[in-house]
Amino acid sequence: MAKLLGIDVGTSGCKVLLIDENGTVLKQASAEYPLSVPRPMWSEQNPEDWWQGVQTCLAELNEPNVDAIGVTGQMHGAVFLDENDQVIRPAILWNDQRTVEECKEMDQKVGLERLRSITCNPPMTGFQAPKLLWLRNHEPENFKKVQTVLLPKDYIRFRLTGVKATEVSDASGTGLLDVPNRTWSHEMLQALDLNESLFPRCFESSEVSGKTDLGIPVVGGGGDQAAGAVGTGAVTEGIISVSLGTSGVVFTALKAANYDRAGAAHTFCHANGQWHAMGVMLSCGGALRWYRDTITPGLTYDQISAEASAVAPGCEGLTFLPYLTGERCPHNDPYARATFAGMTLGHTRSHISRAVFEGISFGLLDGMNLLLNLGTTASEIRVTSGGAKSPFWVQMLADVFEKPCSTLECDEGPAYGAAILAGVGIGIWPNVEVACARSIKIRSQVSPSSTNYHASYTKYRDLYVKTRDWNPS
Ligand code: XUL
Repeated sequence: MAKLLGIDVGTSGCKVLLIDENGTVLKQASAEYPLSVPRPMWSEQNPEDWWQGVQTCLAELNEPNVDAIGVTGQMHGAVFLDENDQVIRPAILWNDQRTVEECKEMDQKVGLERLRSITCNPPMTGFQAPKLLWLRNHEPENFKKVQTVLLPKDYIRFRLTGVKATEVSDASGTGLLDVPNRTWSHEMLQALDLNESLFPRCFESSEVSGKTDLGIPVVGGGGDQAAGAVGTGAVTEGIISVSLGTSGVVFTALKAANYDRAGAAHTFCHANGQWHAMGVMLSCGGALRWYRDTITPGLTYDQISAEASAVAPGCEGLTFLPYLTGERCPHNDPYARATFAGMTLGHTRSHISRAVFEGISFGLLDGMNLLLNLGTTASEIRVTSGGAKSPFWVQMLADVFEKPCSTLECDEGPAYGAAILAGVGIGIWPNVEVACARSIKIRSQVSPSSTNYHASYTKYRDLYVKTRDWNPS
């Protein structure tokens, strides 16, 4: 029976897992690495740390018989390589907000309407293209040295195979892909005066892109959201996946490159040869981790959930905005800031804990509403990633969305999806949809209770509007 490996280069660490043809997870390993914030709003990592993390996981798995590999990881980041394929400076990541001016430069040079019709998205600070423009504007000596720009998972592919390549789902998040036609946009590259030779060849996600030195095929793989959606079976319209990782994502598959004319949701190429839309909030599990580490050090997530569950919905008027790193969807506002509001002497730490969960969940409802406004139906919602381990949070999401939410046997969405794509690439399954139907198993489903979150959600939205122009500096 074939053995398929999925490698996920995440933000807090990497994960490697091995599955068989039934979709059963045989082995897995993970390793952590640091994140650097050299200035407020910046976010960087050392690509060598990713590679060392992957090596540690592969050594722990110690698996001699692998038939194919799929790679996935944090999207949008920029790894700059020189003529000797050496990393020039730390990689700039998806949640870095330094490129506000470069997004304006993209608007000016291409024109917002045209840019949206080519890339299906407005330029956003997290995307890869404005990072390259930032390097040209602020570190011209480094820019002169750049011969190749890779996305994070594609750097790992390069170290595994020596091949510089990407695939359509992750390339969609550069801001340079012609998303409807699934190819680099000459028009965008020309308008921004970027040489096409800087960018690697772009494959479909289950196409074999190269081989390791042991001859193991490595398929295109996917950005963590597209691969994660494969890992949850969100490959047909109607099945929505909600991923509770560092970022929070509400995701639907699309049959066509239908994009949000208001520019609040993303439309990207999906890993199944079609397209997808998603709402991405930047601080989801990341906000919860910040809360645990900063406000409740020593408590576990389970203890925080237990405290929060003792408080009534609505937190007696306490509201939290989770915008610790600005916000992408729906606000596209790098300067958005996190806030607690409505606190009284009567509030305890348990209220604050619940407000954190509620604020994040309302951010996810914003994402869900973006997809519903695009005409999506949500016939089934599958909750995945770290936060799906909390029954308290999954119930809260069912209440906030007012729809049943399912959890899955395997929560390792992106790595699992990448392994599935590897299997499709070597012909184990005829296509991604069949692979998902045969591999993915529902663990549990919760129904909404009678909790009515409408008033709290309205307060949360109003609070963002009121604090939008508040600049603490
Ligand atoms: C998706 C996004 C994040 C990162 C990190 O657009 O920015 O989900 O991929 O996981």
